[in-house]
Order: sequence, then structure tokens, then C-alpha cells
Amino acid sequence: PKPIIMDCDPGHDDAIAIFLAAGSPEVDIQAITTVSGNALIGHTTRNALIIAEKAGLDHVPVAEGAGEPLVRTAVTAPHIHGESGLEGPDLPEPEKTVDTRHAVDMTAEMLFQADEPITLVPTGPLTNIAWLLKRYPAVKKNIAGIVLMGGGSYGNWSPAAEFNIYADPEAARIVFESGLPITMAGLDLTHQALAGQEEKEFLREAGTNAAAFTAELLDYFAGTYHSLFGFSAAPIHDACAVAFSIDENVFTTEHLPVTVETHGTYTTGMTVIDALQTTGKAPNVHVARELNQDMFWTMLKNALQRLP
Ligand code: BDR
Ligand code: CA
Repeated sequence: PKPIIMDCDPGHDDAIAIFLAAGSPEVDIQAITTVSGNALIGHTTRNALIIAEKAGLDHVPVAEGAGEPLVRTAVTAPHIHGESGLEGPDLPEPEKTVDTRHAVDMTAEMLFQADEPITLVPTGPLTNIAWLLKRYPAVKKNIAGIVLMGGGSYGNWSPAAEFNIYADPEAARIVFESGLPITMAGLDLTHQALAGQEEKEFLREAGTNAAAFTAELLDYFAGTYHSLFGFSAAPIHDACAVAFSIDENVFTTEHLPVTVETHGTYTTGMTVIDALQTTGKAPNVHVARELNQDMFWTMLKNALQRLP
């Protein structure tokens, strides 16, 4: 299986992304690291521990990362994910404990010791990844690629900016300019992964506790997406990035030059996609385009079926 490290801010869709990876034999989760994003770091770490436990990931370390963006103050999304970041279902006290290392140090250690390059799958603000690349530049050779959820050609936090990029645009820019192979599952793609009534029923047929918990997460998530954006179904953004790390056929991509706006009047946090290659710059990002929906839902259901 392909080794991956998940860096996340659970988050309803981060939780489902962890379930998808945990239940997919094609990937091997080496570690889960947390970042401040949907909720403050104490919450996202606690949520990651709970989800790792529910996914049966007893052997997988969970390490806490950045509680603040590189240069800005933390922004959170309580109106989407609730104050705890995982509002909706009853959450148990986690028995699993957090690794004593900082997420960035632990990730570096794992990369240095890895037998084969590891794929990073960030589904929150890119603070930890930027920090990793700056603090330990030599790890780059052991990173197979970065498959991230973030950005797109329009925003959900502002007209131009998607939340993960908006929350730490300086970090995003460092990552996008790192020279590493980057795949960007942005909103254009993740809004094709809409869990409506039909999809929810389909997933529930998996019949496991993880499937039932997923349905509860989706109920809450669909509720906030409905009241905020008028959506009739919940986009499972983060699971799209994991799906691609499992099987690249799950969505098509286009290799294009992409930069991140850090100081726009209206556009801070925008991923500026040079779709017609007007800059003449070398393409640096595989921009996600079209989701194979059948494949995506089947992957997720199969994964949920394999979990406790
Ligand atoms: C992203 O922001 C968070 O609300 C989700 O977890 C996802 O990673 C979508 O913009
Ligand atoms: Ca997320």
C-alpha cells in the first residue's frame, strides 16, 4: 500500500476523509497530524483522536501541530462545523492519547526514516506543511507528492477564497511554490461530491458503526450548508483528496500554473489559476476537474464497510 500522512482539522469532512483512508487497503496511514482550522487546535486534535479510534487506527500516531497560522491569527468556522468542529453526533471521551512530538517534527522524522517516499494529504490550512518544508527542507526528497483539499476557481469564505487557503495564505503560497508535485482538489471538484439523501442511504448500507456515524456527521453538515449556502446536500470536500491518493482515476486534472494571493483587496487567499497559461510560467499544480462520482461513492462505501 501507498504510505500517506494525513494533516487535518476535523471537521466533518476531515473525519469522513480519515474513514475513507482507514478503510482502503490501497493506502497505509502512517500518521495523522492536526492543525487549527475548522476549530481551534485543542478541538481538532481531540476530534482526530476520537475519529482515529472509531476507525480502528490504534497503531497510528496522532500528533498536534500549529495552533496559529504562520503570520495571521486563527480563523475558525463554527457556523459550518460548530464550536467543537464536529458538532452533531455524541462524541465519546477519547481513550487514545496524543503523540508527545510536535506534528512537524514527527512528520519530518517519519519522512527521514521512510523506506519509500510518502504522500502528504492535507485537508486543512497548510500551516504545518509550510513549516515542515521550511524547517526541514531536506525532507522534500522523501515526499512523493502533496494531494490537498483547498482553493478552486471561486470561494466559500470570500467570493475569491476557499477556507483552507484563506486561513493561512502565506503557508499555502510556500507549499504551492515548493516545487513538489501538488494536486489541488478545490471547490470546483469537491462540490461534485455532494452527499444528498440518496448518497446517505447508499453509505448507510455499509452497515458499520463508522457508516452510522458518517450519516450523523452528514446530517449536521448538510444542515449548515443548507442554511449558509442554500445547498440541498453536503459536499464531502476532504474525502476527495484522500480518494485521489487511493486511486488517481477518481478525478481528472489539468496541469497549470497556480499562485496564491496573499494581499489582495478583495482576493486574499485566492488560488490564482492560469487556465489559459497567460503567464508562460511552468505548471506547478494538477488542478482537479471532474469527479467520477460512481467511483467516489463506491470507494467510500467499501471503506466504511471495512471499518468497525
Ligand atoms: C474546507 O474547509 C473546511 O470547512 C472543510 O473541512 C474543508 O477542508 C472546505 O472549504
Ligand atoms: Ca478540513
